[in-house]
Amino acid sequence: MTTTPSPATEPAMPEPLSAPSFAVITGDQVQRALEGREKEIVEVVEGTYRLHGAGESVNPPSSFLRFHDRPTSRIIALPASIGGRDRVDGLKWISSFPQNVASGIPRASAVLILNDPDTGYPFACLESSIISATRTAASAASAADRLTRDRPRPLRVGFFGAGLIARYIHSFLVGTGWSFDEIGVHDLSADSAAGFRVYLEQSGSGGRVTVHSSAEDLIRLSDLVVFATVAGQPHVSDLSWFDHNPVVLHVSLRDLDPEILLASTNIVDDIEHCLRAGTSPHLTEQRTGNRDFVHGTLDDVMAGRVTVPPDRPVVFSPFGLGVLDLAVGKYVYDEVAHTGELRVADGFFHELRRYG
Ligand SMILES: NC(=O)c1ccc[n+]([C@@H]2O[C@H](COP(=O)([O-])OP(=O)(O)OC[C@H]3O[C@@H](n4cnc5c(N)ncnc54)[C@H](O)[C@@H]3O)[C@@H](O)[C@H]2O)c1
Repeated sequence: MTTTPSPATEPAMPEPLSAPSFAVITGDQVQRALEGREKEIVEVVEGTYRLHGAGESVNPPSSFLRFHDRPTSRIIALPASIGGRDRVDGLKWISSFPQNVASGIPRASAVLILNDPDTGYPFACLESSIISATRTAASAASAADRLTRDRPRPLRVGFFGAGLIARYIHSFLVGTGWSFDEIGVHDLSADSAAGFRVYLEQSGSGGRVTVHSSAEDLIRLSDLVVFATVAGQPHVSDLSWFDHNPVVLHVSLRDLDPEILLASTNIVDDIEHCLRAGTSPHLTEQRTGNRDFVHGTLDDVMAGRVTVPPDRPVVFSPFGLGVLDLAVGKYVYDEVAHTGELRVADGFFHELRRYG
C-alpha cells in the first residue's frame, strides 16, 4: 500500500537566503543603547557565561598582533560564535596603545563585526571600545556579587589602576546596587588618580574617597580590590597584604605574583583562555606544573558547583571572552534597530548575482 506523506511529516522547505543589509553603529548610539541598563547587561553577560559553560558557543583563542618597533602596543582579534536563541557570529578587533593616554585619548579602540549565522554575511560594524568596557565591567560586577554571597558584602572598595576600565567597573557596581563607605584609589600616575577622584566625586554615588600613594595601604584597607592597571608583569607579591581575605577582581590579569594566587581561591571566566599570554594564572601554572590552583569558573560559582570559602582571599581573573562582546554587541544592535535608528550603508554588498 502506498501512502502520501501528510504535509506535517514533509521536510520543511528551507527559507531562501538573502544577503543582509550592513549597518554602522557609532559610539554615541552604542552609549545610548547601554546607558542605565547595568542590571540588564549583567544578566546578558551571566546568560552568556551559562551558554559558554554549556558548550553552546565557539570561542577560539584570541590572536595577538604585536609589533617589533612598538613593544607595548598590540591589536587583538577575538572571533566568536554564540548558539542558543539569539545566535550570532562575529569578531572584535581591539587595539591597546598605552601611550595614547599621554595625549589624552583612551588606550583602547575597537570595532565589532556581527555576522549573520545563516549566510555568514557581516551585517553590522559597531564602535566597540564602549561595548568592550561595558562587558568587562558587567562581568566584574557579576563576579563581585557572586563571590560575596557567603561573606559580608564589602563596604570598602579599592581601585588599583584608575583608568577607563576602573571608571566603568565603578559605575557598573553602583548601577547594580552597590554602595561603599570607603573608596580607595592607587595609581602610578598622579594625574590618573586625580582624574578618577574627580569622576568619583561627580558621580554622586557617595563614599569617602582616599588616594593612597602606597599600594599596600590600598589593599589592606579594601575588602573588594579591583586591579585595572596596564602592568605587564606581577608587581604585587606580599601575601600579608591579603591577610583580611579580600575579594580581588584581577581584571588586568598580570599584577599578582603566583604566590598570591596559590594562597587564594581562584575563579576564572574560562580556564583554557585564562592560562595563556603571560597572565598571572598562566605564570602560576608554569611555576607549579599544574592547574590545581584554579577552583573553577564564574559559571561554576553561579551554578553552585563551586563554593567560595570566606576565610581566604578570592581572586577572579577574567581573560575577557569574545562571546561577551558578541552578546552585548547584539543587544546594542537590537536596541538600535528597535528604535528605528539603524544607519544602513546602502549598497554595501554589491556583487550579489552569482553569474553577474
Ligand atoms: N580582562 C578583561 O576582560 C579586560 C577587558 C578590558 C580591559 N582589560 C584590562 O584593563 C586594564 C586597564 O585598562 P584601561 O583602559 O583602564 O587602561 P588605562 O590606560 O586607561 O588605565 C590604566 C591605569 O593603570 C595605571 N597603572 C599602570 N601600571 C600601574 C601599576 N603598576 N600600579 C598602579 N597603577 C598602574 C596607569 O597609570 C593608568 O592610569 C588593561 O590592562 C586592560 O588590558 C581587561
